[in-house]
Amino acid sequence: MFFILALVSYGVGSVAAVSSLAGVNIAGFDFGVEITGTANLNNAQGPLKALGNSDGLAQMQHFVKNDGLNMFRLPVSWQFLIASETPPTNPTNGTSIKSTTSSTKITIKTGTFRPRAANNTAANSGALDPTNFAQYDTLVQSCLGTGATCVIDIHNYARFNNKVIGQGGPSDEAFAFLWSQIATKYATTPNLIFGLMNEPHDIPSLPTWTTTVQKAVSAIRLAGAITQTILLPGTDFTGAQTFISNGSARNLSTVHNPDGSNTSLAFDVHKYLDVDGSGTHTECVGDHVKDTFEPLARFLREEGRMALLSETGGGNDTSCLAAFCTTIAFINANPDVYLGYAGWAAGGFSPDTYNLTMTPQGSNGSFVDQQIVSQCLVGQRNGGEGGNRTNGTSRIQSPGIGSPPVTATTKEFTGGAGRVRDGRVLGLLGWASGMALGLSVL
Ligand SMILES: *[C@@H]1O[C@H](CO)[C@@H](O)[C@H](O)[C@H]1NC(C)=O
Ligand SMILES: *[C@@H]1O[C@H](CO)[C@@H](O)[C@H](O)[C@H]1NC(C)=O
Ligand SMILES: *[C@@H]1O[C@H](CO)[C@@H](O)[C@H](O)[C@H]1NC(C)=O
Ligand SMILES: *[C@@H]1O[C@H](CO)[C@@H](O)[C@H](O)[C@H]1NC(C)=O
Ligand SMILES: *[C@@H]1O[C@H](CO)[C@@H](O)[C@H](O)[C@H]1NC(C)=O
Ligand SMILES: *[C@@H]1O[C@H](CO)[C@@H](O)[C@H](O)[C@H]1NC(C)=O
Ligand SMILES: *[C@@H]1O[C@H](CO)[C@@H](O)[C@H](O)[C@H]1NC(C)=O
Ligand SMILES: *[C@@H]1O[C@H](CO)[C@@H](O)[C@H](O)[C@H]1NC(C)=O
Ligand SMILES: *[C@@H]1O[C@H](CO)[C@@H](O)[C@H](O)[C@H]1NC(C)=O
Ligand SMILES: *[C@@H]1O[C@H](CO)[C@@H](O)[C@H](O)[C@H]1NC(C)=O
Repeated sequence: MFFILALVSYGVGSVAAVSSLAGVNIAGFDFGVEITGTANLNNAQGPLKALGNSDGLAQMQHFVKNDGLNMFRLPVSWQFLIASETPPTNPTNGTSIKSTTSSTKITIKTGTFRPRAANNTAANSGALDPTNFAQYDTLVQSCLGTGATCVIDIHNYARFNNKVIGQGGPSDEAFAFLWSQIATKYATTPNLIFGLMNEPHDIPSLPTWTTTVQKAVSAIRLAGAITQTILLPGTDFTGAQTFISNGSARNLSTVHNPDGSNTSLAFDVHKYLDVDGSGTHTECVGDHVKDTFEPLARFLREEGRMALLSETGGGNDTSCLAAFCTTIAFINANPDVYLGYAGWAAGGFSPDTYNLTMTPQGSNGSFVDQQIVSQCLVGQRNGGEGGNRTNGTSRIQSPGIGSPPVTATTKEFTGGAGRVRDGRVLGLLGWASGMALGLSVL
């Protein structure tokens, strides 16, 4: 009896604990992207049967129905979305963002299709390419249709063609414009998470990168997407192990919504368990609970923040079946600070030959999960009793419910001059009406 009472009163860490979100990456649209931020669009393989590629929809349906998974991360390159291997220049500023992104009717081509990959050298505005965006959106809608939460992941390593955004590469405004367009499209879509950028690394100035992240966050909120969680990525491949020591955690803590709140802003962290943490080897060397996930959990708890482990994994090896299961058990046991986890990766990866594959073998109706998935990713849900969906609750709340007075104004963003954090204009209005008023100014 005492034991039960103790569990009830502490809640967090009880045997029934489980992180809110659990799932896998459904890769393919990102194929051809290098860590330099270059993308060979000829190699992009959107994981959709309609595109002649792997059946990402059937995989996601399987993961939801048979495994109780409830989140999929959907990597895509910036180049793919704008159908250009040339960096965007002269981005349209806030004034025209609204008009250029008003809901365009888009349709998807079927049959085998290679994305348009303009090798153009002409300056481009960074506007979303309707054809390519429709393809990506089909994957997003397929994901949402399963009832899962879906993560939009711009898989560019903070770069475009080997140059860091805001630090020699595309301007912050170009990046904010990309997100403004995406946010406008999905402003009223629930169950979406915006993963600003996959794995920034070798960032010359972390404070400058933080400014870039802030502008993207402000652009998203000012486009009207005020309820979706946004993932904030740090340097060193947003590695969980060095997230605090390398300064990512403290720097990104200064990023806020336009009203100054931190609501629905979560840190994005990655961790692989192989010898060099690269996520390429079949074998794992440890679970990294003590040196990584415990200290990060302490930091998050002290600061009242949360993180999503949006890439993690291991190979089909006894070392990983042990270590990875322990890692996932720890994440599940700390749902007050870890929103959840996404394994790398299913989708377009071969179920047989890719070292870190999480692609199930077989086909729709007879999928068989990889052991690392059934035993760890799924098996460590619900206190190790199996993968079926449980009703974990998230501390991340939607702005508008008990949120602080809104202070957002569009002026900061339209100027494109990085004043996004200074606005304190609409002090007494609620978040939603403040946003509406702000948008009407555009
Ligand atoms: C997979 O099969 C199920 C029935 O077993 C069906 O409902 C579903 O539509 C199929 N999914 C795809 C993508 O074909
Ligand atoms: C933004 O657009 C407005 C109106 O077209 C223009 O006056 C202003 O110069 C533009 N600002 C930037 C930074 O391009
Ligand atoms: C773009 O140009 C590069 C270099 O010429 C070439 O390797 C690549 O295949 C081209 N991409 C497309 C999509 O045509
Ligand atoms: C991050 O930390 C590692 C290990 O402490 C160090 O080797 C690396 O240089 C750091 N990177 C950055 C960008 O600070
Ligand atoms: C941001 O990161 C830099 C580089 O790691 C570090 O020197 C600085 O202290 C950090 N800023 C904050 C606010 O922690
Ligand atoms: C946002 O989080 C930071 C630390 O991560 C904290 O210092 C600050 O008070 C928080 N702001 C609000 C409005 O909660
Ligand atoms: C796959 O894992 C093995 C064993 O660690 C390693 O030797 C090999 O290089 C890996 N393959 C790739 C493509 O990284
Ligand atoms: C995983 O490893 C086990 C043991 O080596 C092997 O029997 C099984 O076929 C492997 N699974 C895949 C999908 O390769
Ligand atoms: C989830 O529940 C279904 C129906 O009860 C069951 O068939 C399936 O094996 C369960 N999955 C896991 C991973 O426990
Ligand atoms: C989760 O909540 C839904 C809706 O309230 C309910 O139908 C379902 O049975 C619950 N599942 C579990 C595992 O408690």
